[in-house]
Amino acid sequence: MSALTYVFVVNAVLASFIAESNIQEKNLSSKLPQFKEKNVPNEYIVTYHSKYYTQVRNSFISKRLIRGNVLKWSIISRYNLASHYPSDFDILHISDTNYTLIEQTLSFIRAHPAVKGVSRHHYVQRLLSYNNTHSTTYNIRHPQGVARDKYAKSGQQQHVAASLYADVLWKLGITGKGVKVAIFDTGLTQNHPHFRNVKERTNWTNEKSSEDGVSHGTFVAGVIASSKECLGLAPDAELHIYKVFTNSQVSYTSWFLDAFNYAIYKKVNIINLSIGGPDFMDSPFVDKVLELSANNIIMISAAGNDGPIYGTLNNPGDQSDVIGVGSINFDNQIARFSSRGMTTWELPVGYGRIGLDIVTYGSQVEGSDVLKGCRRLSGTSVSSPVVAGVAALLRSGVSHKIELVNPSSLKQVLVEGAEKLANYNIFEQGQGKLNLLKSMQLLLSYKPKISLIPSSIDFTSSYMWPYSSQPLFYGSTAAIVNVTILNGISVTGKIIGQPRWVPDPHNFGRYLNISTSFSMTLWPWTGWMSVYIGKRVKSLL
Ligand SMILES: *[C@@H]1O[C@H](CO)[C@@H](O)[C@H](O)[C@H]1NC(C)=O
Ligand SMILES: *[C@@H]1O[C@H](CO)[C@@H](O)[C@H](O)[C@H]1NC(C)=O
Ligand SMILES: *[C@@H]1O[C@H](CO)[C@@H](O)[C@H](O)[C@H]1NC(C)=O
Ligand SMILES: *[C@@H]1O[C@H](CO)[C@@H](O)[C@H](O)[C@H]1NC(C)=O
Ligand SMILES: *[C@@H]1O[C@H](CO)[C@@H](O)[C@H](O)[C@H]1NC(C)=O
Ligand SMILES: *[C@@H]1O[C@H](CO)[C@@H](O)[C@H](O)[C@H]1NC(C)=O
Ligand SMILES: *[C@@H]1O[C@H](CO)[C@@H](O)[C@H](O)[C@H]1NC(C)=O
Repeated sequence: MSALTYVFVVNAVLASFIAESNIQEKNLSSKLPQFKEKNVPNEYIVTYHSKYYTQVRNSFISKRLIRGNVLKWSIISRYNLASHYPSDFDILHISDTNYTLIEQTLSFIRAHPAVKGVSRHHYVQRLLSYNNTHSTTYNIRHPQGVARDKYAKSGQQQHVAASLYADVLWKLGITGKGVKVAIFDTGLTQNHPHFRNVKERTNWTNEKSSEDGVSHGTFVAGVIASSKECLGLAPDAELHIYKVFTNSQVSYTSWFLDAFNYAIYKKVNIINLSIGGPDFMDSPFVDKVLELSANNIIMISAAGNDGPIYGTLNNPGDQSDVIGVGSINFDNQIARFSSRGMTTWELPVGYGRIGLDIVTYGSQVEGSDVLKGCRRLSGTSVSSPVVAGVAALLRSGVSHKIELVNPSSLKQVLVEGAEKLANYNIFEQGQGKLNLLKSMQLLLSYKPKISLIPSSIDFTSSYMWPYSSQPLFYGSTAAIVNVTILNGISVTGKIIGQPRWVPDPHNFGRYLNISTSFSMTLWPWTGWMSVYIGKRVKSLL
């Protein structure tokens, strides 16, 4: 058990702040990846509580289908690298047209003790409207001295590794060595000149070619690990390339599920996920992401490109066990496109979490082009591999005490090392701008602990907008802050007892009525605590 101290600074008289968004971003929205999702006609994903071989799984559902009188059905065979291992799902194809009958039979399948759930099979199309035309080739010099931001922008080239001072760690021999990073995207060209440690390229699509026909996957790999020209962050990280999008940017939930299972078998350490969508209702996908975290795989995902509107975070970046990343430009302004918190899962009955963890460069960042040379790209899908590369570097920096690294401890050092940007609120910047060197220091001296996001609630600062503009008055409804609990100690935890509110008698604390509700179990690595802050109806005498 670990004691938590929580600091509240709540002023009875609250100023109204309206956070000014500093929008000087070019209109990039037409160039950013968007996602389109549909149900696949006639197809259902059946998930199981455990992993079984094909025959065993098939016997579970075929008996129920026959007893249910469904006539036209088949279990779709999948041929990929994961087929050799037991699996925890099937794709069921039903072409009968009596929907009453189908629904009855599906409930019958759901009731099987080995079955976890049945849901629609999803098809995802990522829409990238940019074209792969402008390549640049140049040599990066290693920057020296302090004027990094300036250097980073010289000659109009933006060097993200230089801006984050990655070379300081490289000189200490911290280069991502020994860390397995999986990239789920459009693949990577064989023998691309920028990469020196590509361990495996695997195909999860139905395409004949495993080359990257889009250049998106190559770019992401480059930001993480390019060792030439446009340098990535962790040049010695071991890359595992999972091609899960076709060259026409199409993917299916089932391709991801198989590829995720394979990543678990292969014991990868870090995953850069190139899917993102508003679809947290795709429960097989969400469950699989939880399982990856539970297996100690650090997941980093893009916040999404649906800003500047609030409440536009994409899944899985909005999960508390995943590190969700937003974008800034090289002038430290939040990118207009970067999705904003809060999370929307809890709506309409509940209250959302912050959801966004940190921000880093994501506008006009340089990365590897499809065959050779470099190109620039913007989007939170650029910021996310930056953090994946940083995570690889951090992990390789503590190879002598690797048991300390888990999804929660890594998130703790990233958010605690981050710098708050002035003029942006918590839903725009999360815990602030990524600071690689500070997070490295924190990880080097890390002791397993429990912490909270946000670590304090201060209603007097514009950072907490819109909370800070919400007056607490006699009879008003309580303000709710949905706090995320990070448990860096173990994958499963339990909260013992009740959080206690100790009012500060010198600071009007006695006028507040504070109560909490929380998750009893912390799994995987995380939990939540909702804090209700109201004014006491009866004053304490
Ligand atoms: C940006 O471009 C898109 C597509 O071209 C357009 O729909 C949108 O209105 C533009 N937004 C602004 C703020 O100019
Ligand atoms: C559809 O299936 C239900 C349940 O088995 C049955 O009662 C109904 O008659 C069927 N409808 C048709 C048109 O066959
Ligand atoms: C990209 O270029 C190809 C070939 O020039 C063209 O067919 C395609 O429509 C272009 N795509 C976009 C989104 O501009
Ligand atoms: C990828 O896997 C699919 C399905 O098994 C197969 O049809 C296709 O030929 C494979 N592509 C490559 C390049 O191996
Ligand atoms: C990985 O890269 C893609 C870009 O394709 C990005 O959208 C995604 O959020 C990144 N993060 C993860 C965990 O893959
Ligand atoms: C806070 O978030 C958690 C996790 O999503 C949710 O279960 C809980 O209901 C939320 N609290 C409130 C008050 O809505
Ligand atoms: C504190 O708030 C709860 C509801 O949030 C309310 O039921 C209770 O009466 C309040 N207590 C006082 C002393 O105001």
